[in-house]
Amino acid sequence: MEKQIKEVLDNATAKIASIKTKQELMQASTEFLGKNGALANLMKGLRELPVEQKRVVGEQLNQLRDMLNKLVKDKDAEIETMLLNEKLSQEKVDVTIPVKPMSYGTLHPIEALKKDLINYFVARGFELKDGGDIETDYYCFEALNVPKEHPAREMQDTFYIDNETVLRTHTSAMQVRTMESQQPPIKMISTGNAYRIDEVDATHSPIFNQLEILVVDKNVTLADLIGTIEDLIKHLLGEKTEIRVRPSYFPFTEPSIEVDAVKDGQYIEMLGAGMVHPKVLEMSGIDSNIYKGFAAGLGLDRLAMLKYGVSDLRELYENDINLLKQVK
Ligand code: DAH
Repeated sequence: MEKQIKEVLDNATAKIASIKTKQELMQASTEFLGKNGALANLMKGLRELPVEQKRVVGEQLNQLRDMLNKLVKDKDAEIETMLLNEKLSQEKVDVTIPVKPMSYGTLHPIEALKKDLINYFVARGFELKDGGDIETDYYCFEALNVPKEHPAREMQDTFYIDNETVLRTHTSAMQVRTMESQQPPIKMISTGNAYRIDEVDATHSPIFNQLEILVVDKNVTLADLIGTIEDLIKHLLGEKTEIRVRPSYFPFTEPSIEVDAVKDGQYIEMLGAGMVHPKVLEMSGIDSNIYKGFAAGLGLDRLAMLKYGVSDLRELYENDINLLKQVK
């Protein structure tokens, strides 16, 4: 029996060693390990052996089975490697084939504008202040010289969360928060959402974006304000743009102005501005005999419309990919 076992093993080793394909390997596997294969035949012979030999030979047959299995398994792995190498040697990467261009998203027009404005002002020494959309009545109105019964409140009606808490109607509240927390010289901007009761139409929305500008120092004049705004508008709309300054009224500035850009013979409303009212300076703890300030508030939505040629404000909120793609 031992001789037969050795013979099967030698046969199998020689045969499997010469095999080159999976098909041949499968055949060999059946030949040695199959139901009627060499191993199975030897197993049958086991029955006829005397009991004392059965254990020893049985053990040897188990070893034979393990060895045969290993031969097949190793060969299989060898063939796999061979096939893979063959495939790799045939496949060549053509590095000259042009790749598909990656498509990137872009910033939303308003966001792009905000970034541009922030860069513009930060480069000129302004500090960027972050404010919250929820504001107290005091910072939104009272401290800006708009007491409870002031008629100016009507134009800026908003959502009241309770009697003292509102969705801010303008970013001007950040003027007060800044002046309360630091003494001049102050050069700050703040940007974000503002909320007002308004019907949605081509140029109005109850939620919009503003940028607030505040400068407080000794010897600050209206000429500084106008110069600052002229430079800003030229940056936004081109060097050739002229500006028109009109008198206006805001409770928190004295005098107050509104500025239009003059482009292609048309006047485009740009912003409200003015010299910070002495009462506002005083309420925020700044001595109005020593310091003067100027401030301005700029609506970003209409400016984005102008810059990107959008005729209806609502288009900015509809995720129209062709519109968004204009922003580079
Ligand atoms: N807060 C004003 C508004 O939303 C805009 C404004 C006007 C801001 C004059 C200012 C300013 O800082 O000085 O209508």
